[in-house]
Order: sequence, then structure tokens, then C-alpha cells
Amino acid sequence: MHIESVDWDDAAAVALREAMAEEVALRYPDRFNDRNGVDAGDVVYTGVVYTADGQPVGHAALRRLGEDLELKRMYIVPAHRGTGVSTALLAAVEEAAVRLGGRRLLLQTGDRQPEAVRLYEKTGYTRIPIFPPYETQTYSFCFEKVLRPVRTATTVITGGTDGIGRALAGTYLGRGHHVVAIGTNQEKGTAFLRAADEAGAGDRVMFLRADLSLVAGNRGVIDRITERYAAIDVLILGARFHRSTRVETADGLESNFALYYLSRYLLSHGLAGLLQRAEQPVVLNFGGVGLTGPVRWDDLQLRHDYPGTGALGHSAALCDLLGARFAEEYGIPYVLNHPGVVATSFAGEYDAATAAHVEGLRNSGKPVAEAVAQILPFLDAPPAGLTAVLEGRRIPFAADPGDAARLDDITRKLLAAL
Ligand SMILES: NC(=O)c1ccc[n+]([C@@H]2O[C@H](COP(=O)([O-])OP(=O)(O)OC[C@H]3O[C@@H](n4cnc5c(N)ncnc54)[C@H](OP(=O)(O)O)[C@@H]3O)[C@@H](O)[C@H]2O)c1
Repeated sequence: MHIESVDWDDAAAVALREAMAEEVALRYPDRFNDRNGVDAGDVVYTGVVYTADGQPVGHAALRRLGEDLELKRMYIVPAHRGTGVSTALLAAVEEAAVRLGGRRLLLQTGDRQPEAVRLYEKTGYTRIPIFPPYETQTYSFCFEKVLRPVRTATTVITGGTDGIGRALAGTYLGRGHHVVAIGTNQEKGTAFLRAADEAGAGDRVMFLRADLSLVAGNRGVIDRITERYAAIDVLILGARFHRSTRVETADGLESNFALYYLSRYLLSHGLAGLLQRAEQPVVLNFGGVGLTGPVRWDDLQLRHDYPGTGALGHSAALCDLLGARFAEEYGIPYVLNHPGVVATSFAGEYDAATAAHVEGLRNSGKPVAEAVAQILPFLDAPPAGLTAVLEGRRIPFAADPGDAARLDDITRKLLAAL
């Protein structure tokens, strides 16, 4: 069993709510007009429980009600009642409520649902007077639960479905974090969710499918994360996709510039507010640590003499400037990491010569676990400001502040025009 956070209009969620409506209508045929609508705009969390073989069997949602959060549409498919699904789902909803900054969870149920009342009493809910908007439904049983203000740490990882990012996702799940992994490949995402479920962390994991080489893809990810999380403790920027020949995205941007630099710019700045809410936030960006470049100021989109594998290095040099500027602007520790050659998927489209070279790197690279062990100490105790790490060693690096400001200015203007 695992619980997925889904959209309110997700097909499985809609089907479960329809099944619930049919059942409720049978129990309260005389009070049909009292059915309480939910405005999708108020919903801040929707959870669906899946069995190990992928059947959706439970549903619950949270909506904002004034200062509080209210549990809505809690439903378990009859054949799965009494199997622990409802308590697991309630726990996931409460965790989501805490993540969203909720202090109190409210709920209303009816007098003909004694099994629901028993569940809420058993799980620590206290009966309270009927609260608005249920005043006219005098048969209502209303409950509250004061939520523990403890927040589970949250880690967001682009490229969290493969290579070093995937391994870091496993590490943070093992430490009890909520982990959001972002990638384009649904199969990798599903495999990641399944592995988390098998490790007993299915209720702390989210896969967001998004093409981060598109500006809209990044903005969508920022919106989804902002809706669901009150803070971010660790932001890891690791998505990359090499191309031997120059390709432009639908935004008209060179693809490495878009994915390796601009996505990291958008996510760093777009999630800075959530990072600032964490006690000890840190950003990890796989930059060039001063070893790549130089920056082609007159040709950031690499229109002339496209450098093949060098396109990644060029974007990594831009990431160095991004990190320097970001650390200064927000006071959030920013770690630039060059892991050396690591045996990963090396996602990309390669010409024959590069493919042979990359195959050699895949075979000769250090194990992913070694690369993770080399960077973790810097994430666990990040030095203030900007830190450059090369294969586990901190190296001296200082970006030119003028260059960092110049790139920031160019990027803001570019984004404003898109
Ligand atoms: N491996 C090395 O030797 C090495 C050396 C130096 C630096 N680095 C840096 O370390 C970081 C991690 O590298 P890695 O080798 O571990 O990565 P990898 O195995 O090549 O995996 C790349 C990741 O990026 C995601 N991705 C690709 N295109 C995407 C897109 N358009 N939108 C969203 N996600 C996308 C992939 O997910 P999907 O497949 O789901 O899209 C995958 O999770 C990168 O920044 C890399 O440049 C690695």
C-alpha cells in the first residue's frame, strides 16, 4: 500500500469521490439536499491510497477553512475497511496538514456513520460543537485534532530519478525526509515511488513529471511544491541532458542553457522563499567549480561553434555565477559540486564518437555511492555562503561579483521577455 498526493481532478480521486457520493446518498436519502459541496479552489491536498498492485482504494482531501484545515471526502472502498488503510490515510493527511503549516485539523461527519466516529475517536480526535458551515445540519458530529507543530524535513531533487540525484533521494528518504523527485520519464518515476513504498516511505515521496528544459515546466513545478510544502530544507539541482548537436527548446533557447542553467536559476529563485523557512537550508548545484568555461558573453545560447560536450561545461560555468549571486542575495548556503567522473546513465543524445567516449566514462566512473558520500558532509553542515567542492574536497573559488550580477541581469531580462 502507498499513498500518493494527487490533483483534486485526478481520475482515481474523482472515481473514489463518486463511489463515496453513492454510498452517502444511500445512508442519507432524506437529507440529500444537505450534501456539502467542496470548491476545488479551497483544496490544498488530495491523497489517494493504492494497493501494492496499483488499485486505488482510499481517498481524503484537505481544504482551507479560515485559519484551519478541514478533512473532506475521507473514503475507503468497503472491501478494504478494517485493514489499516484508514489510519494510514489519516496519518498521511495529518502530515500533509502539518507540512502546510496547519495547527488544527477539523472534520464533520454524520450521525449515521458510527464507524467513522469510532475511527476519529480512536485516532485522537476530540468532539467539538458544530462549526460553520454546518450549523443547519444539526445531526453533524464535529471533531478537531490539534496537530503537532513538528515538521518533517523536505528535500527536492531535479534529476532525482537517476544517477547521483536518485541515490541522494534514497539517502534522504532513509533519513525520514519528504522527498520530491523531478524527471521526465514516468517509468523511472513509478519505479522510484515503488522502491520508496517497499522501503516503508511511500507516504513521504512525490514524483513530479516535468520537462525542466521549458520555462513553463519549471514554473509548474514551483507551483506544485509551493502548494504542498511549508518549507524546503535541501534543494538539489541535478537534471541534465547532453546533446552532441545544438537543439533549441520550444522557448527558443539552447537546450543545455535551458536545462542546466535556466532551470536551476528558476528553481533556486522560485523556491528561495520556502528555503528561507527551513532552519538550516542548503542548495546543491552541480556547477563547474571554476574549472569550466569561459563564459561566452556574446553567445550564451552557443549559436556559433557549438562545443558538443563543452555545452554542459559552459552551462556549469553559468551555474557558478548563479550560485555566487544567490548565496549573497538570500544568505542561503549554496554548494557547487563537481563530482568527478561517476558511473551514471549519462542521459543524452550522442554522436558516434561521443557515445564511445561516454560509454568509457560509464565503465570507468566511480560508483554513485562514492560520489554521494563525498558530497553529503557539505550538505549536512553547509558552510555559510558559497562553497565549491571537487570530488569531496573544498576548493578555493570566488566568482567575479560583476560577472554574477551581469548574468543575473541578462537572465531576468530574458525571462521577462518569455
Ligand atoms: N556522472 C558524471 O560523471 C558527472 C560528472 C560531472 C558532473 N555531473 C553532474 O551531476 C549531476 C547528476 O548527473 P548524473 O550523471 O547523476 O545524471 P544522469 O544519470 O545523467 O541523470 C540525469 C537526470 O536528469 C533528468 N532529466 C533529464 N532531462 C530532463 C528534463 N528535460 N527535465 C527534467 N529532468 C530531466 C533525468 O530524468 P528523466 O530520465 O526522468 O528525464 C535524470 O534523472 C548533473 O548535473 C551532471 O552534470 C555528473
